[in-house]
Amino acid sequence: MASRAATPYMACFPKAPRLKARDAMPSLNEIRSTFLNYFAADGHEKVHSAPLVPQNDPTLLFVNAGMVPFKDYFTGAAKPPYPRATSSQKCVRAGGKHNDLDNVGYTARHLTFFEMLGNFSFGDYFKEHAIERAWNLVTRDFDLDPKRLMVTVYIDDDEAAAIWKKVAGFSDDKIVRIAGSDNFWAMGENGPCGPCTEIFWDHGDSVPGGPPGSPDEDGDRFVEIWNNVFMQFEKENDEIVRKLEKPSIDTGMGLERMTTVLQGVHSVYETDLFKTLIAASEDATSTRAEGERKPSHQVIADHLRSSSFLIADGVTPSNEGRGYVLRRIMRRAMRHAHLLGASDPLMHRLVPTLVAEMGAAYPELARAQAFIEDTLKQEEIRFRTTLSKGMALFDTAVQGFRPGDMLDGQTAFTLSDTYGFPLDLTRTRRAAAAFPSTSKASRRRWPSSASARARTGRARARRPTPANGWPCATAWDRPSSPAMTPSRDRARSWP
Ligand code: ALA
Repeated sequence: MASRAATPYMACFPKAPRLKARDAMPSLNEIRSTFLNYFAADGHEKVHSAPLVPQNDPTLLFVNAGMVPFKDYFTGAAKPPYPRATSSQKCVRAGGKHNDLDNVGYTARHLTFFEMLGNFSFGDYFKEHAIERAWNLVTRDFDLDPKRLMVTVYIDDDEAAAIWKKVAGFSDDKIVRIAGSDNFWAMGENGPCGPCTEIFWDHGDSVPGGPPGSPDEDGDRFVEIWNNVFMQFEKENDEIVRKLEKPSIDTGMGLERMTTVLQGVHSVYETDLFKTLIAASEDATSTRAEGERKPSHQVIADHLRSSSFLIADGVTPSNEGRGYVLRRIMRRAMRHAHLLGASDPLMHRLVPTLVAEMGAAYPELARAQAFIEDTLKQEEIRFRTTLSKGMALFDTAVQGFRPGDMLDGQTAFTLSDTYGFPLDLTRTRRAAAAFPSTSKASRRRWPSSASARARTGRARARRPTPANGWPCATAWDRPSSPAMTPSRDRARSWP
């Protein structure tokens, strides 16, 4: 893990708007710098993002939270070289516990790759300093209107509630007490954990939804922008087995989600970085990101980021493990490129735009540019051959189908397993006949199966259930309304 020297803090946009003066809108890159500089000025070591492949945890597929590289500092297994740190950590959630792949492209918030901004105290400061620093950043440096912010605390965390009252002047109705896993963060079955306090932004009453803890909390109106975890315990096999020697702080702010708030938009795909990537995808395919084409451009923009960063960190497409998940992501994007009518490999042509946008913050991306382009191109050439064979099989299988008919499980499995068809297979009417279900269960089946396969490497041990047909692809092809997205995932996913 490389580290950079702390630099003096300078706000990047001192006149940042309370979402009024759009001309002063900060870019995603500026928001990242502002966060890191703010904590560097408070004695935090600026630490460059660790690679996406976990260096200290073979059980984890990809780094999926900012604290992962620091796990041993929290538990005491390693001595931290600094008492405080801040980072913008590359994260991928496309397999394992936090898996958003099925939603990506169709919702306003889900991404397979995102950056988690964080500040960390390794037994140094605790609740009071963390809350005070967080409040000052969001209300002074990011200049968010305090009236549109509210927080949650763990149900019996009187101490955190009292600090919020003192620091933010909140009344009790702005401090929602929540029990259970919503306000208790754990890395997984093993590792450090603790109660947390989450900061929410109110998008306003034109957006449906209620505050956290209310029956309507799954709406888009109140979005979590920052999670501050009070690390105090350690879990083993999902049981809390000990108290940490020193209480610590771990925080996570989804950069892309924060950017939507500061840029006054509701979808991550409307932020400056994504608009640039989508414009490149539009240029390369001579199509507009409108109507039914919009999700395809969004899928391409998101998957370009996750694929490129994974390749830069040494993952290559394969049929097992991490490489398998990468291949699924790449092929899902390539399938959407095909849907947009791209007749030649597309993805590698978008890499220069990505590097221009993100290469300064992540030099490893710029260093690996040629390798990323080549890997994407070779995979897309292979996939195109596979795609035409698979399409022939598919066309034969659905011949004479009527609405409601189901594709038999074996064919669907062959399409997915042998030909590598992403399950969001096609939007044609024939597919709608072949894959009629839109149930949540079916929409969610693939990712867990795929991640199980990625974990175990038992690629051919699974078989679909012929009686039920295969998990239903059309649901994946339909833009999900917010109501279709599983609530727990929505609340806990990034950005
Ligand atoms: N580790 C915490 C999270 O990912 C901050 O939400």
